[in-house]
Amino acid sequence: MAASFSFDYCIFTKNRIMIQREFQVAYREYASIEELMPEFAALVVKARKIAGKAYSPYSRFCVGAAVLLANGKVITGNNQENAAYPSGLCAERTALFYANANYPDIPVVALAISAENARGRVNEPVKPCGSCRQVILETETRYGQRIQIILDGLSGIHLFDGIDNLLPFSFKPASLTE
Ligand code: THU
Repeated sequence: MAASFSFDYCIFTKNRIMIQREFQVAYREYASIEELMPEFAALVVKARKIAGKAYSPYSRFCVGAAVLLANGKVITGNNQENAAYPSGLCAERTALFYANANYPDIPVVALAISAENARGRVNEPVKPCGSCRQVILETETRYGQRIQIILDGLSGIHLFDGIDNLLPFSFKPASLTE
């Protein structure tokens, strides 16, 4: 499911020939956690639970993240806000940084994200912000394996097989030397 299917077209524009390149990203949609494999369903439940403990008095938007490590351990985190707004941190990075700090030798297998606003769990599956996507990419690169990213919402659950489906055209370690 990685963003790998590409199509190249020759097109004419302003009397010039140019190539238009297209590629696809992909995700799988599930109606509810019952359709997920049990480890992923349990991960979403943990993300939902920890979202309820977020410290988000300013936005009142509560996000929970649950990280599944290759040894089966689950690390959870939520967003931590601050009166000095930029000093806060998203749920995904709170959880991933804890995992990477405490289990530096254990790869991250999956990350579930859930969110609630004033009306309850969000309808549309919550998407990680750009900075969190960049940190997910760094974690994939660090351990050399794709992370299953599971986004929770009332309308359904979206499963992305690797960050390149959410962050195409990324700046990655190889970009430093290419
Ligand atoms: N937030 C997250 O925790 N994760 C995201 O991916 C998007 C946004 C938090 C940051 C802030 O505390 C609140 O949601 C509103 O942006």
